[in-house]
Amino acid sequence: MINGFSAKGVKQMLDYIHGLPEQLEYCLEQDYRIPIASGISNVVVAGMGGSAIGGDVLRCCLNTRKSVPVLVSRDYRLPGFVGRDSLVLAVSYSGNTEETISAFEDARAKGAQIAVVTTGGQLGSLAEKAGIPLITIPAGLPPRSALGYLFSPLALIVEKIGLADSMRYELRETTAVLKEIREELYADEPDEANPALKLARELKDCIPVIWAAGSDLEVAAMRWKGQINENAKAPAYYNCFPELNHNEFTGLECPETLTKKLAVIILRGGEENPRIGRRVDITREILSDKITKFLTVEARGRSRMAQLFSLMYTGDFVSAYLAAIYGIDPVPVTLIEALKKKLKDS
Ligand code: F6R
Repeated sequence: MINGFSAKGVKQMLDYIHGLPEQLEYCLEQDYRIPIASGISNVVVAGMGGSAIGGDVLRCCLNTRKSVPVLVSRDYRLPGFVGRDSLVLAVSYSGNTEETISAFEDARAKGAQIAVVTTGGQLGSLAEKAGIPLITIPAGLPPRSALGYLFSPLALIVEKIGLADSMRYELRETTAVLKEIREELYADEPDEANPALKLARELKDCIPVIWAAGSDLEVAAMRWKGQINENAKAPAYYNCFPELNHNEFTGLECPETLTKKLAVIILRGGEENPRIGRRVDITREILSDKITKFLTVEARGRSRMAQLFSLMYTGDFVSAYLAAIYGIDPVPVTLIEALKKKLKDS
């Protein structure tokens, strides 16, 4: 039972989630003009966890458009191709993530053009000292709850420097779609008719496996997994069609003692390739005696950006409700903090 959201932090996380559309609106009002020379042939977003995923949203928004390649780098070093024709967007909400600081230094050493998105921290100071364009975003949230602040500047920068069009327009559409969704999914007390709460109940005592119906939607599955991990403090895994049909799928031939714990959530989108649609249907058919729980979430909105955010936003609510069901405080990420502290002291 959910106990009137008695678990500590649930109401707070729900309120953070509620605020996502306003984060996009805030960013739409800013001027992210940065002095970047022309001739950019690739964009690399350097960051970790909640700060990196905005890069994946950008990558998924642009991957079928005529645009330069966008790559997300989650490590101390950047890929070897990074050079003077690269735009490196170093993103860290706290500004103190050691991998991102190191990647920022690597970008400088490689002569890349750089912009930093952060609330401050060491990364903010380093950028300021070096005269590197610095976008300071509002502080005070868990990084994963600041997706709007962490993503929108990236979209607006690439639009401003002519690497993608209609980002501003899509951010507006996304804001409207998110407001619609929160009308349906936000509840500050248990409402049995709430679709996200119902979905969370289906996931109770299961291991969620999130499958995106196409790699264009990959970031949405990644976000669901991350939000379930960090908010509900529960394991979750993700993959994408068609790749999963070439490996993961066959692993489900295993004994039912293992598969009966899984709940598969399929994320589907508006521009789905019909062959992917067939794969989803056939996969479900083949696995019907192995996986007892298949759930589907459909994207909303017209643009890829709105569709991705609509899926992610639903997952955000589900993760908070799952935390409530488990009686878990979704806000602190004690293990991440403990690990960062140990690394700092060593
Ligand atoms: C915590 C979270 C983490 C952090 C990550 C990197 O809410 O989402 O995944 O985002 O540990 O830290 P920052 O974002 O400060 O660079």
